[in-house]
Amino acid sequence: MAMAKSSKVSYVCQSCGAVTTRWSGKCDSCNEWNTITEEVIEAAVPKGLSVVKGGKGKGKLEIQDLQSKTHPLPRQKTGMNELDRVTGGGLVPGAAILIGGDPGIGKSTLLLQAVCALANQGKACLYVSGEEATDQIRMRAERLGLGQTNIALAASSSVRDILSAMDEGTDLVVIDSIQTMFVDNIDSAPGTVTQVRTSALELIRVAKKRNIILFLVGHVTKDGQIAGPRVLEHMVDTVLYFEGDRGHQFRILRAVKNRFGPTDEIGVFEMMEKGLEEVANPSALFLSQNQDNIPGNAVFAGMEGTRPLLVEVQGLAASTAYGTPRRSVVGWDSGRLAMILAVLEARCGMNFSGYDVFLNMAGGIRVSEPAADLAVAAALMSALTNKTLPPNTILFGEVGLSGEVRPAPQTDLRLKEAEKLGFELAILPENSKVKSGGGLKQNKIKHVQDLAALMAG
Ligand code: TYD
Ligand code: MG
Repeated sequence: MAMAKSSKVSYVCQSCGAVTTRWSGKCDSCNEWNTITEEVIEAAVPKGLSVVKGGKGKGKLEIQDLQSKTHPLPRQKTGMNELDRVTGGGLVPGAAILIGGDPGIGKSTLLLQAVCALANQGKACLYVSGEEATDQIRMRAERLGLGQTNIALAASSSVRDILSAMDEGTDLVVIDSIQTMFVDNIDSAPGTVTQVRTSALELIRVAKKRNIILFLVGHVTKDGQIAGPRVLEHMVDTVLYFEGDRGHQFRILRAVKNRFGPTDEIGVFEMMEKGLEEVANPSALFLSQNQDNIPGNAVFAGMEGTRPLLVEVQGLAASTAYGTPRRSVVGWDSGRLAMILAVLEARCGMNFSGYDVFLNMAGGIRVSEPAADLAVAAALMSALTNKTLPPNTILFGEVGLSGEVRPAPQTDLRLKEAEKLGFELAILPENSKVKSGGGLKQNKIKHVQDLAALMAG
């Protein structure tokens, strides 16, 4: 079959977008399996697609001064505090925001709620779905109690049609999802890297030119049948991931890239019968009801961005039935668990070798702070010795290889949150800078041995 002169076939990884000349089972760039598919790559930039016309200047390049003559447009606060916090204090006009997440996690629900919130402030919002019919979106809006909101709906996957609707009067456009979109002068099917990239590029260009906030929904897929959001991460201004456990109601919105704000903030939501509800005090969500008097339990006073978050750490040591003991961890780094176990064995003389060790961050949250070390050490010690920590205790601090306990940032915020939730004692690193401290009793320790002594005594 004769191929058009301007195109050639390449093999593209649907996970990371790497292009190779030969098919292989495993992508050499990202090491994913079965993600490489054949795609037709256009040799030249497709013509006649872009509706943006260049301005005046030298040749075709539009030259501008560094000093702006126009005031930057103010950020748009949606009024959903959790979303506003994660985006760095509201949405920036002209910004392209990618929301990635597993299918069914609640991306469409979140965006429909955000769009309706903005529409109620008088903004002109367009919600384009390439996955659902407008009736389905209407039904969802009814369910969310937002049926009367004034937003424009469209069921389309043609980028050309969508671009023509993105006029100057539009404030915000949602594309749900970018993997269903196609640009009609490219041969590849929707969902392939070529289509996803080109569609996104066109949409982003027009959004920037016209100061439209652009939300792109991107499904995360494990099997590589459609291009994942990672192929778009460098093209957009902000990348948010919507995460959660199917078994739990809460959802976490996390910024992994943000040109207009910090990337360590999280927003916490609960998926309810009538949509997503914001969780203003997440600590209460991750603490189980009776934490005391159970060996193996310890409460970590953590930070997620600017917000303190108390998390219950649960450890269990059970005699090993087979040769090699198991080490199993949920919500934390397994390498870090191995390190803490080694430190406890080498520096405190504890012996875990005959035990299967399980570690769990309760509630299904993922903790990545090194300051969780001390709470993990306490949970493991307690699990092994069957001794409990003093009641209503929180811990935080990084543990080094020699067993030394190192200070963690934002001590005061952690202590204040713990006090607010009724905790009485804090076990913290010796050199912690405590300014206010509050009403919490503080037990400052230097070494994990001090923790062992405290628990024994
Ligand atoms: P959805 O937003 O369609 O997910 P995504 O766009 O990420 O694929 O959410 C789908 C799930 O959320 C579905 O399993 C039903 C549930 N859900 C609720 O529990 N309550 C609600 O009010 C809504 C709208 C959905
Ligand atoms: Mg959806």
